[in-house]
Amino acid sequence: PNNVGILAIDIYFPPTCVQQEALEAHDGVSKGKYTIGLGQDCMAFCTEVEDIISMSMTVVSSLLEKYNIDPKKIGRLEVGSETMIDKSKSIKTFLMQIFEDSGNTDIEGVDSTNACYGGTAALFNCVNWVESSSWDGRYGLVVCTDSAVYAEGPARPTGGAAAIAMLVGPDAPIAFESKLRGSHMSHAYDFYKPNLASEYPVVDGKLSQTCYLMALDSCYRVFCEKFEKSEGKHFSMADSDYFVFHSPYNKLVQKSFGRLYFNDFLRNPSFVDEVSRQALAPYASLTGDESYQSRDLEKANQQAAKKIYDAKVQPSTLIPKQVGNMYTASLYAAFASLLHNKHDSLVGKRVVMFSYGSGLTSTMFSFRLQEGQHPFNLSNIVTVMNVSGKLKQRIELPPEKFVENTKIMEHHYGGKEFVTGQDCNYLLPGTFFLTKVDSMYRRFYAKK
Ligand code: ACO
Repeated sequence: PNNVGILAIDIYFPPTCVQQEALEAHDGVSKGKYTIGLGQDCMAFCTEVEDIISMSMTVVSSLLEKYNIDPKKIGRLEVGSETMIDKSKSIKTFLMQIFEDSGNTDIEGVDSTNACYGGTAALFNCVNWVESSSWDGRYGLVVCTDSAVYAEGPARPTGGAAAIAMLVGPDAPIAFESKLRGSHMSHAYDFYKPNLASEYPVVDGKLSQTCYLMALDSCYRVFCEKFEKSEGKHFSMADSDYFVFHSPYNKLVQKSFGRLYFNDFLRNPSFVDEVSRQALAPYASLTGDESYQSRDLEKANQQAAKKIYDAKVQPSTLIPKQVGNMYTASLYAAFASLLHNKHDSLVGKRVVMFSYGSGLTSTMFSFRLQEGQHPFNLSNIVTVMNVSGKLKQRIELPPEKFVENTKIMEHHYGGKEFVTGQDCNYLLPGTFFLTKVDSMYRRFYAKK
């Protein structure tokens, strides 16, 4: 099969959200810390009627319906998530309920977990399957689903929630350039979830930023080497039209793009313009460690890369800024934002993607975009996703309500024998929701 990649996408995020500006005032931090400092506008969150399973059921059934896919045509279903509800039973098995009526039980795949990277692992599994000799001609389906919640404190405004579903097959409008994958994997304690009784991670915020940037450097180096090997020429940022990043908060994306710019400058000063060359020259001799610690360098990078950032990165920042960190779904929600903003001018364009999961695992890879054939074409994907509509239909709740909700969620996490308030007034028709968890911890869902 040729041009294996993503044929169709749908995205779901909870309608309930809190404005970052309101959260700043509520938390008593200085004005602008979350909105300018972190670069975030708004944060979505699950109320007690929603969780990673309901969100993934919503997005899978919506994708099958809107692209008119026969459920029998799915041969592999892979889920990426780091929100653990059960240590044995996969989220994938919950999703098999959607396929019951069709009688299709012949679907390979389970869940992949490593912080925000699980979705990328799931996507690679599906792409590799379609490219392999065990492929049976059917579609792969990838689901990234997460609810990002943090304990009270500086990380809390970097939460969010969403699920995204991607159909994988040949002749895709969003085709992988399979030779171009650069990974960096190592052992770090930057963000992890050792306390199985709590949904919250243990996080060393500063270390997680440094780990992210180090992984980015390493992946970019390998990616450039592989590009040179396969294309026979050097790679610089000029060779890609867009760069899409895993987006825990927008400021880190700005810093990351600046960092790539600095990499280009170090690899070959002629890759950057004269003004930037002068601005960055004082930092050329820093050691790796020094360069991660230098605030001046960070500012100089961001300044030098600003114009190119506006062209090559900014179009992918909409959903992550509006919804927050969606963990495994973040990178793909950023990509969905790019499709949403630029769909009529993407044919022939290359998009470089950077996936990062704490702990840590990371890969840089790339897509080549084509218009595709209905229903698997870029403009139809944008219509189905209906990003503007979904953002407009949200309900902003005050910070007090958000905090009250986190208390309920803490209480329910790992709990049994409760019914949810059934208060699903906020949900749109077609949305799945949690109705109860029985005395055996079994979870029950209904469709609104
Ligand atoms: N106006 C404008 N900017 C402000 C203001 C203000 N009033 N106050 C602070 N800022 C700026 C700071 O200067 C800083 O920007 P800079 O980094 O460009 O200097 C930014 O706001 C954040 O302020 P800090 O004091 O550094 O924030 P803090 O340490 O309190 O928390 C952090 C930020 C570490 C990101 C925290 O939210 C966190 O731990 N989040 C979770 C970890 C995470 O997402 N890591 C990313 C990779 S791993 C993953 O994806 C989960």
